Amino acid sequence: MKPVFQTLRLLRQGQWVNVPDVPPSRTLLQVLREDLNLTGTKEGCAGGDCGACTVMVGQACGDQLELKAINSCIRPALALDGQAVWTVEDLKTDEGLHPAQEAMVRCHGSQCGFCTPGFVMSLAVLHENQGQAVTREQAQEQLSGNLCRCTGYRPILDAAVMMKSLPVSSTQPLIDQTKTLSFLKQGPCVGRQSVNKTRYHLPTSLPDLLTLRATLPQAQLIAGATDVGLWITKQHQRFDEVIDLSRVTELLRVEDYPHHVAIGAAVPLAQAFAVLAQQRPVLTNFFSRFAGLQVRNAGTLGGNIANGSPIGDSMPLLIALGAHVVLMRMHQGQVQHREVPLEDLYTGYKQNILRADEVLAWVKVPKPKPGESLRAYKISKRFEDDISAVCVAIKLELQDSVVISASVGAGGVAATPQRAVQTQAVLQGQVWSSTLAQAAGLAMQAEFSPLSDLRASADYRSQILARLWQRFWLESQGTPHLDLSDLHTLQSLSNITQAAL
Ligand SMILES: Cc1cc2nc3c(=O)[nH]c(=O)nc-3n(C[C@H](O)[C@H](O)[C@H](O)COP(=O)(O)OP(=O)(O)OC[C@H]3O[C@@H](n4cnc5c(N)ncnc54)[C@H](O)[C@@H]3O)c2cc1C
Ligand code: FES
Ligand code: FES
Repeated sequence: MKPVFQTLRLLRQGQWVNVPDVPPSRTLLQVLREDLNLTGTKEGCAGGDCGACTVMVGQACGDQLELKAINSCIRPALALDGQAVWTVEDLKTDEGLHPAQEAMVRCHGSQCGFCTPGFVMSLAVLHENQGQAVTREQAQEQLSGNLCRCTGYRPILDAAVMMKSLPVSSTQPLIDQTKTLSFLKQGPCVGRQSVNKTRYHLPTSLPDLLTLRATLPQAQLIAGATDVGLWITKQHQRFDEVIDLSRVTELLRVEDYPHHVAIGAAVPLAQAFAVLAQQRPVLTNFFSRFAGLQVRNAGTLGGNIANGSPIGDSMPLLIALGAHVVLMRMHQGQVQHREVPLEDLYTGYKQNILRADEVLAWVKVPKPKPGESLRAYKISKRFEDDISAVCVAIKLELQDSVVISASVGAGGVAATPQRAVQTQAVLQGQVWSSTLAQAAGLAMQAEFSPLSDLRASADYRSQILARLWQRFWLESQGTPHLDLSDLHTLQSLSNITQAAL
C-alpha cells in the first residue's frame, strides 16, 4: 500500500503555504530547497555543524512571538508544522536590504558567499530580538553555530555590531509581530489530520504523548532532532512513524520548588541552561560551549540525557549536581512514573533502563547549598561547536575546610556518563588541600580507563583527569578563573603581552 504522507503548513510572508505529501524523515532544508524552490538556504555539512542552512522560525509563546535561529538541515520538516519560517529570500524589501544584509555588505563580511545566507539569518534573528546595540560578545554567541572558511570572522562581527545603527524600513517591517502572532494562534496545525493517516505525531499534552508512546512503541521518538536528524542525513535512516514531543505543553515547563528545579524534557537546551546558569552563574561559560546556538535552540536537555552519549556534556554536570530523572508511561489507562538518579539511567553504551512505552519526562536538579564549590570543565579542540574529549564536573561542599560532601561526574572516560564513586570516597571527610586535590586526581586516574579515539588518546584523557583536579584546587583558592575561552580574559592577556613588549 502506498504510504499516506502528511501536508505540511508553514507560515511564510504572512500566508499559509501547503506542502503536500511530506514523509516523516524529510528535512526542512529539503522542503525549502526542493519543494519550495527557496535555494538561498544552503547545505554545507548536513550535520548541524556549519550553520549554512540557518533559518529563522517563529512560534506563538503565550502573547509573545518567539523567534529563533535553527539548522534546517537536521530538523524534520513536519516538526515545524503550523509555525512561521523566514529564509534569506524574505529579508530584502522594496525599500532595500535588511540591516543584517546591509551591514554584511558594508563590512565586507562575505567572500565566496556560501556561508553568508546562514550568517545573515543568524544576524537577522539577533536584530529582530534585540532592542539595543549589539555587543561583540553577543554577536559571537549568536554566531557560535555559523562557520566561515574564507572571509574570517572579524568583518562579520563588525557587521553584527554595525547593523543596529542602520535604518530599518518603517513601512515594511520584516516581521509584523501582531499579524504573525494572530495567524499562528489560529494556525491550522496540530492534530488536523485524522489519526490513522498521521505518521508524524505532534501531541500537545502529556497524556496524549504517553498514550501514543504506549500504542506505537515502534515509532521513533524525537525531541529537537539534533541527534536524530543526523541519523537521517548521515546514516540515511528513514522513519515510518514519528512521535515528536517538542509541543507537549507540560514538558515545556520549568517548575521551581524550594529545593530543586524541575525541567521538562521538551525544554530547549538554551532555556534549560539559562535557568541553571541563573542559579549557578559559574556555569555560564560551560553552557556556551555546548554545540552552537542553533543546536541549543532546538535540542533539549531530555534528548541529551536520553541519547546517553558517553561524551554528552550535560550528564557529568547533572550527575555532580545530584540530578534525578522522572520516567513516565501510560499503563492500563493510568499514568505511572518512577524516579532514578541520573547515573542509574544508563546500563551500557547508549543503553538505558527506559521501557519501550516510557518517556523521560522531567529532570530534577537540586538547588545550590551554602559552601558549595562547583566547576564544570569541557576539554575539546575548539571552544564551541565541538564534542568533548573529556568532561568533568566537580561539586564539593565544604565546612571549615572539611569536605562534607563530594559529587563528581565524568564523561569521555567510559561507555556511559559516570559518577566517580571511588574518587568521591577519597575526598569525603578530609581537609581540602592541594595534597587532597592531588590524591583525588590520582584516584580518578585509577578509577577510569579511557579509550583512544580520533578526539584524544587514552593517555591524554587520563592525564587531563589529574590536571583538572589541579586546576580545581587553584580556582578554589581564588586563582582567577583563567579561561582562555573568555573574551575579557583574552583581551586582558593581550594587553599584558603588549605592555610587556
Ligand atoms: C552540531 C552539533 C553539535 C553538538 N554538540 C554537542 C555538545 O557540545 N555536547 C553535547 O552533549 N551534545 C552535542 N550535540 C548532540 C545533541 O545536540 C544533544 O545530544 C541534544 O541535547 C539532543 O537533544 P534533542 O532534543 O535534539 O534529541 P533528539 O535528537 O530529538 O533525540 C535524541 C535521542 O533521545 C531520545 N529522546 C529524546 N527525548 C526523549 C525523551 N523525552 N524521552 C525518551 N527519549 C527521548 C530520542 O528518541 C533519540 O533516541 C551536538 C549535536 C550537533 C548536531
Ligand atoms: S548544512 Fe551545515 S548546519 Fe546545516
Ligand atoms: S564567505 Fe566563503 S565560507 Fe564564508
